[in-house]
Amino acid sequence: MQLINLAAIALTAGSTAFAAPLNARAAAVDQLVGFGAGTTGGGSGSGTTVNSCSTFEAALKNGGVIKVNGKISGCGILKVLSNTSILGVGSSSGFSGTGLRLKDVSNVIIRNLEFNTAPSKGDIIDIESSTKVWLDHCDIHSKGLVGGKDDYDGLFDAKHGSDFITVSWTKFHDHWKGSLIGHSDKQTSDAGKLHITYHHNSFINVNSRLPSVRFGAAHVYSSCYQNNPTSGVNSRMGAKVLVEQNNFSNTPLSVVTDLDSAEEGFATERNNIFSGTSTTRITKTGAPTISYSYTADPAASVCDIVAKSGGVGVVTF
Ligand SMILES: *[C@@H]1O[C@H](CO)[C@@H](O)[C@H](O)[C@H]1NC(C)=O
Ligand SMILES: *[C@@H]1O[C@H](CO)[C@@H](O)[C@H](O)[C@H]1NC(C)=O
Repeated sequence: MQLINLAAIALTAGSTAFAAPLNARAAAVDQLVGFGAGTTGGGSGSGTTVNSCSTFEAALKNGGVIKVNGKISGCGILKVLSNTSILGVGSSSGFSGTGLRLKDVSNVIIRNLEFNTAPSKGDIIDIESSTKVWLDHCDIHSKGLVGGKDDYDGLFDAKHGSDFITVSWTKFHDHWKGSLIGHSDKQTSDAGKLHITYHHNSFINVNSRLPSVRFGAAHVYSSCYQNNPTSGVNSRMGAKVLVEQNNFSNTPLSVVTDLDSAEEGFATERNNIFSGTSTTRITKTGAPTISYSYTADPAASVCDIVAKSGGVGVVTF
């Protein structure tokens, strides 16, 4: 009886009724949770430190732990091998005009890095036919909703049967296309794959795909959505998404299941906050099976929590 009462209180805390104090964060800030669990990247060695495109490119050919020290620009699109961790040193390391491509690989960690603007027409992080990826505490953006929608592609895309991915504590902002999971209605072999967890992220001023999921299974919790002009979580082609304890402000179609594809997706939303122009259009209800344990922070606190504890300079190397 008491356990049931406690559960009821926890659920209430996820609604607007009891906002936790601003700094009260229940979720751990340095922990891999969700479908990407078990990703170990390049392991725990001290690795190689790089500070230029050429040293980074050379290090990528060996994999293992790669520490990026400072800002590196204009490397183009670089290939990442299996069993690699790419970690930012301190609070202002990262890339501009550089994209990472993971193709036919497994076990990659990317943490504490800023990615400022993709190479022209390219994605910032592009994952194809790859498994076990953890993106954490990054800041990924371009120049805003200016220029052509297709000048750059996505901020974080996964396709061609990729699977077991977690995206946490990352600030996505100022870009047209956010995160595309499953690239085509025709890719029916993606059914049963594309399991991805998004938690404690912010999506601010990104036009759409926050994320867009075809065929797969997505769990989106404790994230902050602000001023995204077209759509938020878009479930398509029978995908299943669970959307809980997020704050959606000024994000039309915050959760939608019948947009832009031949078949609808499924969604379940609970304990979210919707304000301003935010709406939902859920035509089919359904959620993926979540078999891991996780700690969601309440919707009313997540924007403050992610602003303070997300992005670069929080977990440093
Ligand atoms: C990655 O590491 C695992 C475990 O050590 C190993 O079995 C596998 O061969 C490695 N993969 C590559 C491509 O090096
Ligand atoms: C939701 O987020 C917006 C944008 O950060 C914020 O202004 C608003 O206060 C938040 N809503 C609640 C109920 O905390």
